[in-house]
Amino acid sequence: MTAQRLDGRKLAKKIEHELAPKVAALASEIGRPPRLVVVLVGDVAASASYVKSKAAAAKRVGITADVFSIPESTTTAELVSTVEAIGRDEHGPADGILVQLPLPDHVDARAVLDAVPPDRDVDGFHAVNAGLLSQGRPHFIPCTAAGVQRMLLDAGVETRGKHAVIVGRSDIVGKPLALLLASRGPGGDATVSVCHSHTSNLKEVTQQADILIAAVGIPQLITADMVKPGAVVVDVGINRVLDGDTSRLVGDVDYDPVSTIAEAISPVPGGVGPLTVAMLLENTFSAAKERQNLSQTAE
Ligand code: GUN
Repeated sequence: MTAQRLDGRKLAKKIEHELAPKVAALASEIGRPPRLVVVLVGDVAASASYVKSKAAAAKRVGITADVFSIPESTTTAELVSTVEAIGRDEHGPADGILVQLPLPDHVDARAVLDAVPPDRDVDGFHAVNAGLLSQGRPHFIPCTAAGVQRMLLDAGVETRGKHAVIVGRSDIVGKPLALLLASRGPGGDATVSVCHSHTSNLKEVTQQADILIAAVGIPQLITADMVKPGAVVVDVGINRVLDGDTSRLVGDVDYDPVSTIAEAISPVPGGVGPLTVAMLLENTFSAAKERQNLSQTAE
């Protein structure tokens, strides 16, 4: 059996195609394009590259994206005050605000993320948005978690009553995804297990998964013997590994052997990554739309 390839690039393109006319209509209503402000701290090559992809995708659908590059040496207090100023529109209208992670170790990331006004928090990382999601009344959903759920929905993967095993318990992916898959309704109603570095006998748990999601950041951790035949496997990992003199990207799943036993599998690159960006565009559009609706109500 060769698994169906869950093509995130193709789906992201479709999402962009559907979003662009809505963005154009909103832009003519507001009198300017929706705008996303990205805060990028330091010079981590991977972060700079992700931010570049996000800005390029925003441009493709008609969203303005401006990147604020801040030196690595910044303090928590400085960063909080910059984000607060952006949130007060002191640097132009900011419909969506995103602080690219990771931040340098000396910065209190929580304090910075909580400085983003929740109604512009297009990453869904603010405590208010995390709380709303946990209560089953989501507002902005973290983009990677939303992207994985969208991928499953688009591929017609039934989640109701299935055992979904998530490897990784991060605030960015594992936790929000567990909430989404266990939530009521389409793309939810699954029985969810969350595994992490203290899970004893990981293989025993992953072998029970109807839907296995790897989001742990360990190259090719998930090998074929850990996967139940016929499972749907989603790989969230993006790991750069050395290959002789060059480097290449690999996921958290050992793709080739696993693809011979899985029913469907997402590749790296070209799987979840493009959907993370597409969900960011949708969230930014929603933030701008909500803001426009609010300003009309106030008139
Ligand atoms: N770093 C890795 N993934 C993400 C993400 O989804 N959003 C932000 N802001 N930073 C990240």
